[in-house]
Amino acid sequence: MNKLMAANWKMHKTIKEAEATASELLDLLSGKLPEDRDVLIIPPFTALKAAADILLTRLGYSVGAQNLYPEEKGAFTGEISPSMIKEAGGRFALAGHSERRHVMGEPDDFVGKKVGFGLSHGLAMILCIGETIDERKAGEVEDVLKRHLDTGLAEVPADVNAEEIVVAYEPVWAIGTGEVAKPSDIVEAHGFVRKELEEKFGPKGNAIRILYGGSVKPDNATEIMGLDNVDGVLVGGASLQADSFSKIVTA
Ligand code: PGA
Repeated sequence: MNKLMAANWKMHKTIKEAEATASELLDLLSGKLPEDRDVLIIPPFTALKAAADILLTRLGYSVGAQNLYPEEKGAFTGEISPSMIKEAGGRFALAGHSERRHVMGEPDDFVGKKVGFGLSHGLAMILCIGETIDERKAGEVEDVLKRHLDTGLAEVPADVNAEEIVVAYEPVWAIGTGEVAKPSDIVEAHGFVRKELEEKFGPKGNAIRILYGGSVKPDNATEIMGLDNVDGVLVGGASLQADSFSKIVTA
């Protein structure tokens, strides 16, 4: 399966800015997107359709949403359903990003509901998992990853297609801090996630993509992409400029 090079734009970019960055990215990567890599742009909801209109004109590009609500429709002020995301051109959605868990206070079982609901409504889901610095210092990394995986994947059917589910390991202390996890930390965490996925899904667990996220930049992307069980990256800050993200995509 292709490596997934994902850009999480978080609460950045107006429609016009998103269009400009998407167009610039296509220009920079024109004829240079490696055959074994797919690009995924995750803009804010308001720019989803505008980015899709530009990016979905080329093979190898998709767009996704940063969040979803696990209901089809109804009185859920401020929320967005999978069908709305799909109509705007979204193919993927994130669930459990550390900013949702730690800033918005989303509990583990709610993250699991979103993953299950998104999948059963035609979206590919990216489950984000990762420990805080206190949890790492307390030696709880594997406990946290196991809990995030158990709860986050609780509603994923055993016959899920491996392409439809992605896990992103994002240590909270490495997100937006410039402090990237050491290669040995990444290999250890991804190896643990792989083992858990194989236990849950059998041989298919080996095909499920595991992304690394947390201060990925053009100058560390090549090393990270070369590590065992790293099937792509989820990039925040360094994805906001087409120039730096295109370097990461081709790293
Ligand atoms: P960062 O964010 O690349 O800015 O550390 C990653 C993420 O939050 O997905």
